[in-house]
Amino acid sequence: MRKVKGRGSIFLQLLLTFFVFFSFVDSGNAGVTSTFIRSEWPSVDIPLDDKVFAVPEGHNAPQQVHITQGDYDGKAVIISWVTADEPGSSQVRYGTSEKNYGFSADGTVTNYTFYNYKSGYIHQCLVDGLAYNTKYYYKIGNGDSARKFWFQTPPEIHPDAPYKFGIIGDLGQTYNSLSTVEHYMQSGGEAVLFVGDLSYADRYQYHDVGVRWDTWGRFIERSAASQAWIWAAGNHEIDYMPYMGEVTPFKSYLHRYPTPYAASKSSNPLWYAIRRASAHIIILSSYSPFVKYTPQWRWLQEEFKRVDREKTPWLIVLMHAPIYSSNEAHFMEGESMRAVFEYWFVKHKVDVVFAGHVHAYERSYRISNIHYNVSGGDRYPVPDKSAPVYITAGDGGNQEGLAGRFRDPQPDYSAFREASYGHSTLEIKNRTHALYHWNRNDDGKRVPTDSFILHNQFWANNRRRRKLNKRHLHSAIANVPLSERLRRCA
Ligand SMILES: [Fe+2]
Repeated sequence: MRKVKGRGSIFLQLLLTFFVFFSFVDSGNAGVTSTFIRSEWPSVDIPLDDKVFAVPEGHNAPQQVHITQGDYDGKAVIISWVTADEPGSSQVRYGTSEKNYGFSADGTVTNYTFYNYKSGYIHQCLVDGLAYNTKYYYKIGNGDSARKFWFQTPPEIHPDAPYKFGIIGDLGQTYNSLSTVEHYMQSGGEAVLFVGDLSYADRYQYHDVGVRWDTWGRFIERSAASQAWIWAAGNHEIDYMPYMGEVTPFKSYLHRYPTPYAASKSSNPLWYAIRRASAHIIILSSYSPFVKYTPQWRWLQEEFKRVDREKTPWLIVLMHAPIYSSNEAHFMEGESMRAVFEYWFVKHKVDVVFAGHVHAYERSYRISNIHYNVSGGDRYPVPDKSAPVYITAGDGGNQEGLAGRFRDPQPDYSAFREASYGHSTLEIKNRTHALYHWNRNDDGKRVPTDSFILHNQFWANNRRRRKLNKRHLHSAIANVPLSERLRRCA
C-alpha cells in the first residue's frame, strides 16, 4: 500500500516538473499564435431527425434531463427535465443504491410560449440534504417511461479538496459541438463550468427557436444528466426578437436552466456564486446591468466579502464576453465590464477568469490595466502578479463557425491563441497548485494543446506559504504524544 502511494507521489512530482518546464505563464515568454489550421467540418446544425436528438421511448418519457448545483456548498442539486405530452409527476426518487430509491423530493412544473411555440412541461426539483462525495442514483417519470441516472456529489468544502472542472463555451449543436462534448466526457471532468451561449436556437425564427432549445436539451443530456453544469448566460440566451413579438430577455433560458442564485443572496438567476470542493466560483452576466450601484454590482461587492480563501483557496470568475481578447471578433466588447470590475479582480486576487463569446481559444499572462483612467495612467495592460489569468474558451463549436482573425501583432498580454474548437479542464490538486489543459478537437481526436500550472493567488504569497508550512508542522506535532512534546521542548 505504502509502495503504491510512493509511486503516485513520484508520478505527481514528475508531472508537475513537466508542466513547470512547459509553463508559459510565469516564464514571461513571448506569446504564441498557433499556426495550426484545422480542416473544418461544416458548421451546420445536426439535422433534427439525427439520433443525437432522439426522443426517449415511452409515453411522456422525461427528456432534456440536466442537473446543476442546488445550493451554496454542493450538498444539493437541481434536477430539470421536460415531459412533452402532459405534466406528469415532478417527483425525483433517489438513493445511494441502484436498487433502492428510498428517498423522494417534489419539484415544480411550468411551461411557456414563444411566438407560436408551446414548450413541453418543464420540471425542476431541488434535491437537498445530500452527503458529500457520494454517488446518488435517481429516477424520474412514471411506469415504463421512467428513466434512471446517477451523479456524484462533490467533496466537502476543504482547502485541499482536489476537483476537476471542465470548461465549455459557445457550444451549439453541430457535429463540432458533438465532438467537443464527447471529448469532454473522456476527460474525467466532474462538473462543467459553462461560459454562455448554449443552444444558438436564436439563429432560427418563429416556431423553430423553441424546437432548437429542445434539441439542445436532448443533446447535452448525455453529460448534463449525470454531472452538474454550472451556467453562465451569453448573448444567445437573450432571445430578444421583437419582429415576432418576443421582447422578454432570457425567456427560454430562464425557464429551462435554473441556477441556485438565492443561496448566494443574489436577486437574479443570471448572476450568482457557488462553492464546490476547494473553489469559490462567481458567475457574472455580461448582458445585465453591472455598473456602479446596479444590483449585480452591489451583489458582487458583497460576494467578494464572503470569499474565504482559507476554506476555498481557488477563486474563479465566469462571464461570457471576455475582458482580454485579441481576436477581431467581438473586439473590446468586454471593455465596459473591465472598466467596472477589473479593479476588484486584482484586489481580491482572482485566480482565473473564464469567458466565451469569441469562437477561438486564447490565454493571457497575468496582466491588468487598472491604472488607466480617462485623464492618465498606463495606456496598456501591464504585468501584474495579483491579476487573474484570462482564458477565452468560446470554442465549443457552434453553427457560426470559428473566429479565425487574430489582431496582428499579438499583444504582449496574450500568451497563446488558436482558432480551433475544443474544451478545457482545470484540475485542482490542492490549495497551491492546479493543472490546466486546453484540448483541441482536431477533427475528432482529443489533442492536449495548451497546458500550464496555475499557482494559487492566495497561497502562493510568501507569508501565507510560511504560515502553511507552520500549520503543517502543527498538525504533524499534534500526532506526537504530549509527554514527548514536553520532552522535546525542555
Ligand atoms: Fe456570444
